[in-house]
Amino acid sequence: MSRVAVRIRDFVKKFGNVVAVNGLNLDVFDGEIFGFLGPNGSGKSTTLLTIATVYKPTRGDIEVYGFSVTRNGDAVRKLIGIAFQEPKALWVDKPYELLVWHAMVVGYSLIDSRRVVRDVMEELGLWEHRNKLFSELSGGTRKKVEIAKLFIQKPKLAIFDEPTAQLDVTTKHLVWSKIRDMNREGSTIIVATNDTFEAERLSDRVGIIYRGTLKALGSPSELKDMIPGGDIIEIRVEGFISGNALRKIEDALETKRLDLSNGTLKAYVNRGEEKVALALEILMRENVKVRSVAVKEPSLDEVFFYFTGAKLEEVRG
Ligand SMILES: Nc1ncnc2c1ncn2[C@@H]1O[C@H](COP(=O)(O)OP(=O)(O)OP(=O)(O)O)[C@@H](O)[C@H]1O
Ligand SMILES: [Mg+2]
Repeated sequence: MSRVAVRIRDFVKKFGNVVAVNGLNLDVFDGEIFGFLGPNGSGKSTTLLTIATVYKPTRGDIEVYGFSVTRNGDAVRKLIGIAFQEPKALWVDKPYELLVWHAMVVGYSLIDSRRVVRDVMEELGLWEHRNKLFSELSGGTRKKVEIAKLFIQKPKLAIFDEPTAQLDVTTKHLVWSKIRDMNREGSTIIVATNDTFEAERLSDRVGIIYRGTLKALGSPSELKDMIPGGDIIEIRVEGFISGNALRKIEDALETKRLDLSNGTLKAYVNRGEEKVALALEILMRENVKVRSVAVKEPSLDEVFFYFTGAKLEEVRG
């Protein structure tokens, strides 16, 4: 059994009447990259900020390497680093000064701070921006400064809150590879994201959170295997399908789940290639015009849909 880095038990966080997180139980293991996947407002940042001792739990507790965020906040803060979703400059408002200050706070000497800050800034393409004012930086550049803090600090537990949401594709790949390097060098990583591609590329395990509750947990391939059947049939149709026809398709496909939205029928089945022929036969008999057909392996997007009944792109803001 792996050692637990973060133990979350019965964690509830309310803001007034808003229940941001509603009874979360979760272990993040030492040495893993854990992806926290969920749409806007699902409670990711609230959870990460509570792990980082910025918020206090309303109920329940979180332990980081055995230290409670409510009772041993100082010990927790020594082990963690967090790159916030919304970076803000402190009173130091030039990226170079900010990062040198950060490097010294986390224990580097002045000489080492200058060296490590320069290395990381050059790698992330930040060196040319080192003396600009924080307010003059683009959103993506600000985000890179925020992420640079963790690449400098290399904390035991590194928490990234939507690290690549504003970054261009090349920089995304660079950041992913640096996060993996950090992990290989000994940091446990938690990454919050609403991007299934990012979650899949990066994470050893993924937790799907929706409306403050954990809906599913496992490695990306384990999550895909949790969808019964393992194949997805998608049929785009034109016009109306009667309830009777839908029931016939459901029976013929032996599917546990059939969804129809925006003119697309979606069925989770075994042996998709064979079943799709049956579905087409029924639709033809019912005079429903078929526009396109696809049989697919589930993606994490599908897994998300299966467990929540919601589409990530619909609930994304
Ligand atoms: N400081 C706060 N005061 C009041 N409500 C808050 C506060 N922070 C978060 N919330 C609410 O708690 C819920 C969860 O928000 P949270 O920021 O944790 O979601 P998230 O999963 O990080 O979303 P996103 O993908 O948009 O970053 C939302 O309904 C949000 O409006
Ligand atoms: Mg957030």
